[in-house]
Amino acid sequence: MVDYKKIGLVNTRKMFAKAVDGGYAIPAFNFNNMEQMQAIIMAAVETKSPVIMQVSRGARDYANQTLLRYMAEGAVEYAKELGCKHPEIVLHLDHGDSFETCKSCIDMGFSSVMIDGSSLPYDENVAMTKKVVEYAHQFDVTVEGELGVLAGVEDEVSSAESHYTKPEEVIDFVTKTGVDSLAISIGTSHGAYKFTPEQCTIDPETGRLVPPPLAFDVLEAIEKKLPGFPIVLHGSSSVPQEHVETINTNGGALKAAVGIPEEQLRKASKSAVCKINIDSDSRLAMTAAVRKHLAENPSHFDPRQYLKPARESMKQMYIHKIKNVLGSDNKLIEQ
Ligand code: G3H
Ligand code: 13P
Ligand code: ZN
Repeated sequence: MVDYKKIGLVNTRKMFAKAVDGGYAIPAFNFNNMEQMQAIIMAAVETKSPVIMQVSRGARDYANQTLLRYMAEGAVEYAKELGCKHPEIVLHLDHGDSFETCKSCIDMGFSSVMIDGSSLPYDENVAMTKKVVEYAHQFDVTVEGELGVLAGVEDEVSSAESHYTKPEEVIDFVTKTGVDSLAISIGTSHGAYKFTPEQCTIDPETGRLVPPPLAFDVLEAIEKKLPGFPIVLHGSSSVPQEHVETINTNGGALKAAVGIPEEQLRKASKSAVCKINIDSDSRLAMTAAVRKHLAENPSHFDPRQYLKPARESMKQMYIHKIKNVLGSDNKLIEQ
């Protein structure tokens, strides 16, 4: 049993309370490799922001859960080396699918876990989430639950259309399970294709697709039921069109990729939404930089030559999100 506090990680409790009070959101960035981890930490240190580094099932399959956990321990030391005396870094399991997965992460030093029972019947979601909370809280590990189903792919749980969170269920769910935060469905979805072209309108000036707005009425109804309770938004990449265009002009084929407009995420960050999940934007930033570098430098074959600009591009994207969208810069408890 590893105590996450001994390796310098923190849970989400204090940082969420401060974020809800302060009207900003904590970034939750997925990581799968060293370059993403370095970019996340460099961005968090440079902006003096708390940060959640999250590990998905795909990341565990790709990079190995144990290795990722040791990378997070390294991340704490790296942040200190970069000049941050009191880093606030959460190591979070993203979309945990069972009690056993959550337990194994808690036992090896994760400071926060998500148990995603959103595809299960309501009572089964409650029972599984409650079991994880009871285990996690013994070790002061915080737990995120989910109600409502996002469109698209929730790791391996796919659903053809989104089912918004029902505001009438949230009090019962939070009370029965004891979760520390709640992921909700208000129209976001995972990946780089969040809306079909038919669901969008066209901006006459740029010719780009403009997606429909998120269901802020559902968010407001949930906030009324649970005043001050930490709410989480998954599927919150904006799919920057400049990265999509760089990919497409350098041999890629991403057609009609569209995300959540940043002004909507800015608005959500000012509400009880205090954790915003971003993964696809990092993938796009990395791939655009790699494609561009290799197209411009066909003789290069040392991975460091193309991963360096890829890491820098991800870092700039993370800094932009922190400062200009979520507003979590300069929010460390001890600066
Ligand atoms: O929730 C989905 C995340 O973007 C992680 O996806 O399982 O492919 O790493 P992944
Ligand atoms: P995006 O695919 O929009 O980046 O969402 C990531 C996410 O929700 C991870 O849990
Ligand atoms: Zn997610």
